[in-house]
Amino acid sequence: MPKINDYVERLYREAVKAMKNAIVPYSGFRVGAALLTTEHKVYTGCNIENPSLMLSECAERVAILKAVSDGVKDVRAIMIVSGMEGYCHPCGSCRQIIYEFARDAEIFIAGKKGIRKYSIEELLPHAFKA
Ligand code: THU
Repeated sequence: MPKINDYVERLYREAVKAMKNAIVPYSGFRVGAALLTTEHKVYTGCNIENPSLMLSECAERVAILKAVSDGVKDVRAIMIVSGMEGYCHPCGSCRQIIYEFARDAEIFIAGKKGIRKYSIEELLPHAFKA
């Protein structure tokens, strides 16, 4: 388990706050995400579902795309929190998004038993690259 330091704690708090905005009429499953840029700016996201289910967005993807669209080039860390008992590991599509836009980021996932830390190489070995 990683040592909880200031920025991890800050990201956890921001992700929990963002999770409250989740729009989940179909799954009822809330997810929140917060990322920290190397310039100490935080971007948050929540999952946003759509009646056309394929158009639903994951929390971490929302946070990353908000940052990218704001011109962010370097993401230092990402935190994912959810309403589940265990750990909400990112889906395959989000792993590819992280690989593309936050390759060097520390990836933290919070569960009831604490916070786990991963790299994208661990979560997405042999990633697709163009
Ligand atoms: N979801 C996320 O937001 N992030 C993940 O890492 C996995 C899944 C969302 C998508 C959908 O709104 C709900 O969780 C159930 O799959």
